[in-house]
Amino acid sequence: MSYKIHFSNRGHAYTEDEIRIATDAMRSADPLTQGRFRNSFEEKFTSFLGNDRKCFALCNATAGLEIAAMLCRFQPGDEFIIPSHTFTASCYPFIKKGGTPVWADIDPETRVANAQTFARLISSRTRAIVVVHLYGFVADMPEIMELAEKHNLLVVEDSAQAIGAELSGRKAGTFGDFGIFSFHSHKNITTLGEGGMLAVKDPSLASLVPMLRHNGHCDFNFARQDYWLPAMGNVDLPELDGIPLMPNNFCLGEVECALGTALLDRINAINRDRRRRALAFIDGLQDYPEIVFHRVDSDRHIYHLLVGKAIGNIRDEFIRRMALNKGIQCVVQYYPLNRYDLYRKLGFGYADCPQGDDLFDNMISFPFHQWMTEEQFAYMLQSAREVLNEIRQR
Ligand SMILES: Cc1ncc(COP(=O)(O)O)c(C=O)c1O
Repeated sequence: MSYKIHFSNRGHAYTEDEIRIATDAMRSADPLTQGRFRNSFEEKFTSFLGNDRKCFALCNATAGLEIAAMLCRFQPGDEFIIPSHTFTASCYPFIKKGGTPVWADIDPETRVANAQTFARLISSRTRAIVVVHLYGFVADMPEIMELAEKHNLLVVEDSAQAIGAELSGRKAGTFGDFGIFSFHSHKNITTLGEGGMLAVKDPSLASLVPMLRHNGHCDFNFARQDYWLPAMGNVDLPELDGIPLMPNNFCLGEVECALGTALLDRINAINRDRRRRALAFIDGLQDYPEIVFHRVDSDRHIYHLLVGKAIGNIRDEFIRRMALNKGIQCVVQYYPLNRYDLYRKLGFGYADCPQGDDLFDNMISFPFHQWMTEEQFAYMLQSAREVLNEIRQR
């Protein structure tokens, strides 16, 4: 069916300047990967985060999560605690690298896990906590960090949806040991559909990332008389605590890096604009308690998504009427991970997460793309009101 407003997987449009920057890089970049545009992007991202992390551009956030998982050094039996209410890429890289997931519930108001929901799952086997700043809202990081420090746990911040969100003047992704950001097509900024950034706190762990990212490439440990002998360069196995780590090719191309650098100039304006619209929509539905939103009028929420929870078992009827009568494609997101076949087949099919389940069973995710016009927005708000009025009268 064709919609008046579809749920697009493209988050934003590019300005003519950004298109020019990308095409200029297409003409001039040599090499087309691992060159000066990557260096500029990483430097600018480091300063965007506040200059106390080393940042690495990657082909996507999942690659960043996988490198973070390698650097967690899971031993057999080690667990990591993670909300079941998240996107699958938050989790499976940690299983791939030897961790066992333990599912945390979310706070019903903020829709992310907090120190209490993590704390009750900590055991002697816990090695790491994976915090997900889902929807663009920064979780309670000071409390979570206090908990992690008390139990000597690593903290990974999946900030894929929260680039630029802040709590107490600190950016999402700069509280824990690792911060991971996504520039996927749907995100608040995208580097042509794929892209990611990994921010690492510990300089000794950060020093391993270039080889882990790029095939184990490194210099020979002897001085060469001829630049071509014995070859262009060496490859080696980076080691952590004496354990060798296999490398990957997780690089991001130069055109994407040039574009990402330019987009950083606009991210705060994009985030502000998204929040302005989200709040206008939420306030426009304040007379309709049938849908509950998480309203945050501060930099702590950058509204990557606009998500409501339906009260009174009306979710499916609301979405159906919005689709069929109004041509607006709302969707349901974040199937609880333990319910997916992948996790069930691995033996992780059980979770005691009533709040996450309740949100999933009642959630409505509205189309919310930066390129939507103000008219489309007004139409979506008016349509939601009309549909709720219809449901009241049925
Ligand atoms: C919460 C979360 N984590 C991880 C990812 C993975 O990001 P990427 O597609 O850049 O690998 C995404 C989205 O795509 C996400 O929303």
